[in-house]
Order: sequence, then C-alpha cells, then structure tokens
Amino acid sequence: MSIIFVGLPGSGKTTIGRQLARRLGLPFVDSDHVIEERLGCSIREYFAREGEDNFRDVEQQVLDDLTQTHEGVIATGGGAVLRPANRQHLHERGHVIYLRSTPEDVYRRVRHDTARPLLQVDDPMARLRALYGTRDPLYREAAHFVIETGRPSVATLVNMITMQL
Ligand code: S3P
Repeated sequence: MSIIFVGLPGSGKTTIGRQLARRLGLPFVDSDHVIEERLGCSIREYFAREGEDNFRDVEQQVLDDLTQTHEGVIATGGGAVLRPANRQHLHERGHVIYLRSTPEDVYRRVRHDTARPLLQVDDPMARLRALYGTRDPLYREAAHFVIETGRPSVATLVNMITMQL
C-alpha cells in the first residue's frame, strides 16, 4: 500500500512527497522519473516525437506497475488521473492525496520551468485554467483527501498530511 500524490503540474507532488517519505522513513518514487528511465529519453522529447496518446500508454503501464509493487510514497504526473483505469487503480491500491493548487499558485511556481511540455504554449495561464477546470473533478474522484497548498510552507503541509494518515 502506498501514499500517492495527485495534482496539477507544479502543485508540489514531488517536493512534498519526498519530504513526507523522509519523515515516515519510506521509499519515494516519482512516476515521471520511472517513465523517463523506461523511455530512455525525457518526457518532453517523447511527447514531441510520439504524441500525447503514446505517452499516456506508457504512463498507464508504469502507474499500474508502481501501484502494485511500490510500498512507500509515489508522486504521479499531473495527467495521471485522465484515464478512468488509472483513477480506479490509484484509488483502490493506495492512499491518494490531492494537492490542490489554484492555476495562479501553479503559474507562480512553474513559470520559469521549461521541462513541462503542457505549459510550453503562448498563454500558459489560460492553459492552466483549462487544465484545472477539466482535472479538478478527476483529482477529487481519485483522491481519499484533499490538501490545499496555497499558503502553508512545505513543512507545514507535510505536518498536515501526517495528521490525516
Ligand atoms: C503532465 C504532467 C507532467 C508529466 C507530463 C504530462 C500533465 O508531470 O507527466 O509532462 O499532463 O499534466 P508533472 O505534473 O510532474 O509536471
């Protein structure tokens, strides 16, 4: 059984997941990292070359494997909840935490980050609002509880999460 983080890109899944794992003395894994190891290239390159559908196939396979084998903390990619099968597997096999951030919060954190293909567009703020609109209900469906990431520090968020576990 794992603790699994879902949320928009830039919501803090990796940062908070890593800290929580350290606090609990559990192994941490980032599914995007496992995907890149499996692909042998960056997600950004793969997205550009093979398209989103092919990326989602690999992502689904990796999530299926990790949710069956990893005993610890898992940070997922922001689109991990898009496929119904993924939402079901995450929810049934782990304790899923939705790190909810507003599009404005996310934009503040990721605006200088060039590694996120979905945000490499002319109007990233409009893109984030659209992503939030589509995905917020899907993150909620997959999750067992929601943590609002707006103001608190990483340490405070980790404390809040340990109290909910
Ligand atoms: C994606 C988010 C990324 C990565 C891929 C697709 C998305 O992960 O999986 O670029 O669809 O939101 P992060 O949420 O870690 O940026």
